[in-house]
Amino acid sequence: MLLRNIPLFANLSDSELAQISAEASLKQYPRNKVILSEGEKSDSLYAIVAGKVKVLISDEDGKEIILAILGPGEFFGEMSLIDNQPRSATVISMESSSFNVISHGDFMRCLTGNPQIARTILQTMAKRLREADKKIESLALLDVYGRVARTLLELAKKQDGKLVVSQNLSQQDIANMVGASREMVNRILKDLAHGGYIKVESKHIVINETLPSSL
Ligand code: CMP
Repeated sequence: MLLRNIPLFANLSDSELAQISAEASLKQYPRNKVILSEGEKSDSLYAIVAGKVKVLISDEDGKEIILAILGPGEFFGEMSLIDNQPRSATVISMESSSFNVISHGDFMRCLTGNPQIARTILQTMAKRLREADKKIESLALLDVYGRVARTLLELAKKQDGKLVVSQNLSQQDIANMVGASREMVNRILKDLAHGGYIKVESKHIVINETLPSSL
């Protein structure tokens, strides 16, 4: 994927794009590698060229909560460049992934010289805040059944007329998204399958349209 195909940079002029392309480096990571760590000092923004990452917060015992899963065309690492604070979360590759890495200086030059980039960043941050608000609502107001159901519906995409979660997520990943244990998620998925709400296939979960978003 070229920088031009990353929505954040889609509206730059050829010369601006050429300038960033010349400075940006392409980095590749295998699956399960820490790309950046919560609390670290920061110096760059990452645009996802290929692959998938999870954004998470963890405690000393390794217990984690997944805040978001991001894929090609999306970016991360902008927050600490904007507010000069340490990284707000840890980002780990979920599959072999590559990124265009843009330095703090280049990013700031783009941001100040290009209102469209600033607007895209604001829109993305607003979208992420809305999603974080939903997550707070789920954690505070729904039980674990409801949280699993809502998360499955959020992750699902229409495929051949069916609602399918095909993100290759483990039960541990789903548990880390809803703040529950893997065993609990396993039990709930079995219950939902038993009730005819979902069908668990090898690497997919097919959702029956009757699954309510809060059980
Ligand atoms: P930064 O704080 O520099 O490093 C961690 C990055 O994770 C952060 O920038 C954002 O790009 C991303 N991030 C943090 N919180 C969320 C969230 N709730 N949803 C999506 N991405 C996030």
